[in-house]
Formats: sequence, C-alpha cells, structure tokens
Amino acid sequence: MAAYYPDELIEEVRSRSDIVAVIGSRVKLTKKGANYWACCPFHSEKTPSFSVSQNKQMYYCFGCGAGGNVVTFLMNYESYTFPEALEYLAERAGITLPKREMTGEERSREGLRARLLEINGEAARFYYYQLRQPVGKPGMDYLTRRGLSAETMRRFGLGYAPDEGYYSQVLYRWLHEKGYSDEELRTSGLVRFKEGRGAYDFFRGKVMYPIMDKNSRVIGFGGRVLDGRLPKYMNTAETPLFDKSRNLYGLFAAKLSKRPYLLVMEGYMDVIALHQAGIDCAVASLGTALTEGQARLLKRHTDNIILTYDSDAAGTKAAMHAIPILRAAGFNIRVLDLKPYKDPDELIVHEGAAAYEARIKNAVNFFLYQSDVWKKDFDLTDPAGLTAYFRKLAEELTTFPDELERENYLQAVCERQSIDPSLLRKMMNRIGNRRMSAEPDYGETPDENALATQSGRKKEKDEGLLVAAQMLLNWAACSGASTKRIRALLEEEDMPTETYKDVYRRILSEKEEKGSVLPASILNRYLEDEAQSKEAAAIFSKGFPEDTPAEEKARILTESLRRLRRERLNRELREADSAAKIQQLAKDRQSVYRLTVTAADTEE
Ligand code: CTP
Ligand code: MN
Repeated sequence: MAAYYPDELIEEVRSRSDIVAVIGSRVKLTKKGANYWACCPFHSEKTPSFSVSQNKQMYYCFGCGAGGNVVTFLMNYESYTFPEALEYLAERAGITLPKREMTGEERSREGLRARLLEINGEAARFYYYQLRQPVGKPGMDYLTRRGLSAETMRRFGLGYAPDEGYYSQVLYRWLHEKGYSDEELRTSGLVRFKEGRGAYDFFRGKVMYPIMDKNSRVIGFGGRVLDGRLPKYMNTAETPLFDKSRNLYGLFAAKLSKRPYLLVMEGYMDVIALHQAGIDCAVASLGTALTEGQARLLKRHTDNIILTYDSDAAGTKAAMHAIPILRAAGFNIRVLDLKPYKDPDELIVHEGAAAYEARIKNAVNFFLYQSDVWKKDFDLTDPAGLTAYFRKLAEELTTFPDELERENYLQAVCERQSIDPSLLRKMMNRIGNRRMSAEPDYGETPDENALATQSGRKKEKDEGLLVAAQMLLNWAACSGASTKRIRALLEEEDMPTETYKDVYRRILSEKEEKGSVLPASILNRYLEDEAQSKEAAAIFSKGFPEDTPAEEKARILTESLRRLRRERLNRELREADSAAKIQQLAKDRQSVYRLTVTAADTEE
C-alpha cells in the first residue's frame, strides 16, 4: 500500500508533520526532560510510560512497547489505513497528494468495506424487526425461554432470520430492493448463489446474534438453531469486513465497564446472560481459539483477564491454549471455576449473579489452574508418575524469568498441591544445571552464571543483547561519527535479529546519502508490518539521558559492542564445523577487548 506514493513524498509529509503537535492534539502530553510524556493511549495504565520525542520525531511506550512515527501513531490511534493517515497529514500540512494514484484497488477496497458495513447494518435491522413480528415468534419464544428480557434483546440487537424453505429469499429480496448488487451481497456472506437454486438466504430459521466491532458496528452474524439440530451455530464466513481473529463478541458493551478486568468466555449466550445479570465486562472469542490479535485488542482495555471457559474438555483445552498467548501479551491472568456447571450462562441461570461474583473473587491464578490440569496427565499413585508430575511443575516454573515471581509461584503451587517446596527447588536447580551443560557457555563472567535458572537467565541475557544493540544503533544514527568509523567498530553480523540488521543497513545508507539520520524516516520503511514497526521503534527508544558525560557514553557503548561481538562469536563457535574455523574464532575472541568506542566517537 505504501507503494502508492513515492518514498520521497511520504518522507516529505512526515517531515512536515510535527509529531508532538499531532499527538498533543489527541493525548495530553507533559514535558519532562527532553521528552513529552502521557499515559499510554494503547494500553491502560495509571502512571505515564508513553513518551514522545521531538528530536527523533517518534513515540514509544515503555509499558506496552507501542511505538513508531507520526504515521504509525495515526494508523493505530485513529485506526486509519496507511493512505488515510498520509492523506490526513498531507492536508494538515497543506501538501497536495497526487489524487490519481489513490483511486486504485485501495480506494475500491475501502468502498467495498463501507458497502459491506451498510449491508450488515441493514440485515441487522431486518432480522431485528422480524423477531418482533408474528413470523419471528419461534425465535422470540426461544429467547424468552432462555431468560432474556426485551431490554437485553434490544441491547444486543438480537433478531430472527425467517425461513421460507430451501429457496428462501426474504433477506435477499429486501437487500436487493435497497440497491445492493448480487456481487456485493455474495461478498457479505449473507446471501449465497447456486446453480439451479439461484439466490438464497444463508441464515434461515435462526435466532440471530449480530457481531459488532468495538464501535458497535455490525460486521457479521452468528445464527443459532432453535432445536437440537447440528451445527448449533452458523457464523458469517470471513469477509473483507469480518476478521474473527481481530474482534471479540461483546466488546462494544464490555469496554464501557468500570470493572478493572475483562471476563473472557466462549459463547454468545454466555456474554449476554452475564451482561443481563449486571456483570458487564464479559467478552467471547467468536467460536475460535483466542488469537494474538484478540489479545492486543484486550490489552487496550485492561491488564487483567479472568478466563471463564466452559468446564468441559474443549473449554479446558481452549483455556490452556489462551494462557500462553495472554502471558506473552503481559496480562495478569486468573481462571474461574464453573463446575459443576458447563458454561457461564448455566451458572447464572441456576445460581444467579451473586454466586458468579463469588466465583470471580475465588478465581485462581493461571499457574495454579495449569497445575491442576497437568496433574490429570500423571498417575500420582505411582511414585514414578508423581516424580514426573513434580518435574513438569519444576520445568514450567523455570519459565518465569523473574526470581521473585518464580518463588511466589513455587510457594503457591506447593501449597495447593501439598508438595514440599524444597523438593521442587532442588528439581528446578537440576533442570537449570542440565540445560547449562547442554548449552555450553564460552566464558561469561562468573556472576552472570550465578543467576538462578538457565531459562530465566537466557531471557535476561537476550534482553541485554537487544538493549546493547539498541544503544549502538542509536549511537550510529545520532552521533557525529563517520560511517567509516562506525563500520570499523560495528558489523551487521553483530546484530541480534533480522530487523536490527536491516535498521543498521538503513542507518548507514541514509547517513552516507544525507549526512545525518532521522529515526522517524527510517521507521517509514516498516509501516506495513506492525511487529517489525514496533521492533524498529523499540530500537530508537534507547538513548542516553541528556547530560550523560562523553566518557560514560563511551564506556557503555564499548561494553555493549564487546558484548554483542562476544555473543556473535559464541554463536559462530557453536556452529563451527572445522578445527581451523574454531581456532580463528578463538583468536577473534581474544581481540574483542580491543574494540573501543572513544569519547570523541560519541560527539554529536
Ligand atoms: N460456536 C460456533 N459454531 C458452532 C458451535 C459453537 O461458532 N457450531 C461458537 C459460538 O460462538 C458459541 C460458542 O462457540 O457461542 C460456544 O459454543 P457452545 O458452548 O456449544 O454453545 P453455547 O454458547 O453454550 O450456546 P447455547 O447456550 O446457545 O447452547
Ligand atoms: Mn450455553
């Protein structure tokens, strides 16, 4: 999509759009030191960790890692597409963009999305109306039997799709008369076309649950049978509008909740029943396994998730799948026990809201939940099975990088499963040692080795490498050192990831072409890939505090450089396949200490 505009034009628009002004008109910024600060608009927090740098023309959140330049900010904050963000900024800066190039596929795609939104809105109104007509009586009876009030049905826009048999065209005729083309209707998924059958309504004789995005716009539907037939639910297929993996059922309502957590569950009816019971923070993952996209969406609203998946095997599996995804996204996670009921709706119907609130209060930390689930895989009456279970727990405990956190989990799980903590601790150390001997380390300092477990250690080490590379890339971009000098010290292969290598190459070429580098213009290159754009933004988030003495900078950069080089040589050593190569690498290792960034190198 960026291809619609030449790079120079993108850069011109960007450079004439001051990031502090653009963000400042949307988020309240406070100047502190060289940067501006605010509470992050991309995740919920109480103390500001969102920073905007005027010099670098970029933003970065130290809490959630959101970051980028003025264009990515608008794409994320306003949900603009790339061309929309650019158009907005161009207009603001009084730059005329070549109109012709805009009217390609992109324009028609946007047009199509708008049409699909209209069609879904019309269909929702149609189903809504039908439910309240005589023809909708079966649906109305069904929903009433399930305990929903008229107000709840209104709030969730519930409807009914009439059934005129195999050739049913009720919705089709309605939408066709409104002027939507067959092609548009086919794309919406609401109408299907088949040889010999013509157009027919996809949903027939179903109770309709409109699926709304977080801004309450209908993007698709779930339809439920009224009897025991299978499949129980049918859903709109994926369309250019309806991407299941990036939406959550009920978020439009749950986002207004005052509660400091969201309840994540499986079913439409579960969400609706909870809202009706006054538990207004329920969302469901649209009949699919929780995705990273959904985790990101959740993160904009809360840091605390309570999983309340069905208590059957499928629900347990779904919860065990969701936990690592939510952990990676940085949530506090607890799991609510529904037993003996199958799903949240059943619990509400049988025991009411107060009982549910009590279950929320008693929801256990995810690790304790996992420890219960894993337990079922082992025969605990057999000593070997018991040991294997303990080993599983010990192994999982080593995945917590923070020592204090690890100890807390260890204590809690031991209490819950009646295990002697010292036993698990011993096992964890053994696991740590085994991993250490499997993964030789070519001479780090001894105190680095003393950290509790190998996997915890590894994570901290990787993090340290990234920071080292970030410091050096900032130096390469922002100092007055020549590219010749930079190349002499820092090599592309020293970089820890592909994105870092790419950023390094771009810094060098931009410096050679223009004499200086602006981080924000380098970020232009990554606008299309959110993960890469974040990674690149993280790089430029690392600068020295304003009045760091040159000697201090030089010392830190030198250490960072040697650390990266040592790590790279270790890596090459592990992969080395000849004695000559190993000898060469050993020699290289001995000269790492000669790599030195001087105070003069750090001057602006
Ligand atoms: N689901 C689906 N397609 C199916 C079955 C289920 O999309 N064939 C999704 C729906 O979003 C449903 C959720 O998975 O709400 C949970 O399914 P299930 O537990 O079977 O249904 P309930 O939500 O309990 O529905 P109800 O109470 O109406 O029976
Ligand atoms: Mn149910």
